[in-house]
Amino acid sequence: MANKKIIKNKKIAKLTIADNSYEFPIYSSTEGESVIDISRLYSEANIFTYDPGFTSTASCESKITYIDGENGILRYRGYDIEDLAQKSDFIEVVNLLIYGDLPNKEQLKKYRRLISRHTLLHEQIINFFQGFRRDAHPMAMMVGVMGALSSFYQDTLDISDSHQRQEATRRIVAKSATIGAMAYKYSIGQSFVSPKNNLSFSENFLHMCFSNTAEEYKISPILSKAMDTIFILHADHEQNASTSTVRLAGSSGANPFACIAAGVSSLWGPAHGGANQAALEMLEEIGSTKNINKYIKKAKNKKDPFKLMGFGHRVYKNYDPRAKILKGICQKVLKHVGIKNDPILKLAMTLEKIALKDKYFIEKRLYPNVDFYSGIILRAIGFPPEMFTVIFAISRTAGWTAQWTEMIEDPIQKIGRPRQLYTGNKSLKYGTIRSKKNTR
Ligand code: ACO
Repeated sequence: MANKKIIKNKKIAKLTIADNSYEFPIYSSTEGESVIDISRLYSEANIFTYDPGFTSTASCESKITYIDGENGILRYRGYDIEDLAQKSDFIEVVNLLIYGDLPNKEQLKKYRRLISRHTLLHEQIINFFQGFRRDAHPMAMMVGVMGALSSFYQDTLDISDSHQRQEATRRIVAKSATIGAMAYKYSIGQSFVSPKNNLSFSENFLHMCFSNTAEEYKISPILSKAMDTIFILHADHEQNASTSTVRLAGSSGANPFACIAAGVSSLWGPAHGGANQAALEMLEEIGSTKNINKYIKKAKNKKDPFKLMGFGHRVYKNYDPRAKILKGICQKVLKHVGIKNDPILKLAMTLEKIALKDKYFIEKRLYPNVDFYSGIILRAIGFPPEMFTVIFAISRTAGWTAQWTEMIEDPIQKIGRPRQLYTGNKSLKYGTIRSKKNTR
């Protein structure tokens, strides 16, 4: 731990193995759980810790995001997510995450200009898109094009140069929306729409997705506010799978575009960012409130792989605060687009009510997460389910770049290299043919 303030803490953890005992310092966090520093465990006791899924392991020290999963609290740099969702916009939140505090008016104006300078993509990236199949998932294009940025923007690959790092983060945030919109346009067979820098980040994204050569998209303030709130709510979530992937990739010194592409890949999985698409598809599969009990039963059956998508979270053992905000927005958006009684929303709300009263979900403390309502909103705005995770990825570029920057600037940063509990063969003599059945 680099932070001297933390190191001053005098608490000690004692570990006894056989006749030997070892002492490890305990560091207090400003809020939340303390940690035992076991970094010297191997050198002193010649043993590793075992923690699959990192359920009890803090991988780094961070000042960016705080989550209190027991009480459903999420804060970026100390600010409650509810306040940010109501009073900020996405670019202000990006600035907050990366630079540590809310910008003043002048700083924010300058930052908006700096970000908007990077919304265009190199013309040759258009050729890159032509290489994808039209039916490719837009996340496949997102992963590929994000990684490919490192070949186009070689003047921001030196991670030891703070100016290059900052320019790379601005490029990643600004271009992610353009790449996401291009992936969408490509998948529906329309030509790409150039960004407009007089629009806000969210308005511009809607414009690039829904304007076309024949018709300009009329941006509704209600939909652009909903879009912006979705971007804010997904901007960071401390050391989740994709963020840890970005940090781990970055710990080897890989360039920022490659690290963010790794994060996009990790986010794609249905247990993480892919859950918003999966949640809407699940609601469509359930189809009617009549079928809810059947699906709740399936979710509780350990022999059935079905899970209630959009339910449960590694950290939140209470209602995800982001889901609460989105539930409110959902009603407004549906009303605005003229869906008075959306059967999918009705189904979602009934499913939520039933699940929250069910013993299984109560005991396991499974509540709706951010993905439960976001899909309904995005669908009402006009996005197909394949775009949901892309939108999550665009938002998360804020957190990924902030966390990557924090890692690079951490003086004790070193390459991430977990150890293992080896349970494979002991030394075998080469040429020995074993009779064991090959189960693969
Ligand atoms: N439906 C039914 N049962 C569930 C669900 C669910 N959605 N989520 C968890 N459980 C059960 C598990 O089967 C497990 O039961 P057990 O104790 O009998 O084995 C118990 O609740 C604990 O769940 P774990 O999977 O061990 O919890 P973990 O922290 O590893 O996983 C996760 C969290 C991946 C989010 C899980 O709840 C899940 O798969 N949910 C559905 C997918 C989803 O919505 N993902 C989005 C997460 S939010 C995000 O990434 C933005």
